Amino acid sequence: MKPIQISIDGKKIECFEDETLLWVALDHGIYIPNLCMAREMAEPYGACRLCYVEVEGNDWPVTACTTKVKEGMVVHTKGETSLRIARTAFELILSNHPVDCAHCMKSGSCELQKIAKHLGVKLKTKRFKKFLRDLPIDETSPVLIYDPNKCVQCGKCVWYCQKQIGISEIGFAYRGFQRWVTTFDNKPVGLSECGERIELAEICPVGSFVARNKRDSESRINEIGG
Ligand code: FES
Repeated sequence: MKPIQISIDGKKIECFEDETLLWVALDHGIYIPNLCMAREMAEPYGACRLCYVEVEGNDWPVTACTTKVKEGMVVHTKGETSLRIARTAFELILSNHPVDCAHCMKSGSCELQKIAKHLGVKLKTKRFKKFLRDLPIDETSPVLIYDPNKCVQCGKCVWYCQKQIGISEIGFAYRGFQRWVTTFDNKPVGLSECGERIELAEICPVGSFVARNKRDSESRINEIGG
């Protein structure tokens, strides 16, 4: 790969042509909000719409996760238009998310908290009407708790199970506000192989998949007939 130089927020950066702009920025200590991208993804999913930045010479902001760097590129991560789009996308995500950090096991490491601070948006924003789901919390896995109500539909858990470990047991179901991640046939997570993958708690950027300790998991599996 050819070494090149670009500028992000006035900082001169040496990188390689065709690297992904999002990772170049993050690797050089410049935070760009993101929920749906993982470094190992062959193709960016581009779903969260939080990673907008402005590139000089472009009429419209671009998503950093789908943009490759080029020699001489000049990037601004705090342009007015890109921040406005990212804030709107973020507030729409929050309109579907129950914000109860005091009782959430991801509090402190939740990406939503970090993004809210970065964008200057209150987690309890009232800009959009709240549409919350009321789905049962799945505690059947020996290592995970899955709360579908907190899912932000980043798709990382689906990508991880399907593409990284080759288990096609979870995926998106339904459409629009009803869309959520579930196992096929709506089986409890504890009865799927994905339910044994503690990594999901790391991959999930919010409190939807969290690690549990093993205590009482066996009785739960027995209750559901596993
Ligand atoms: S990280 Fe770019 S759209 Fe989600």
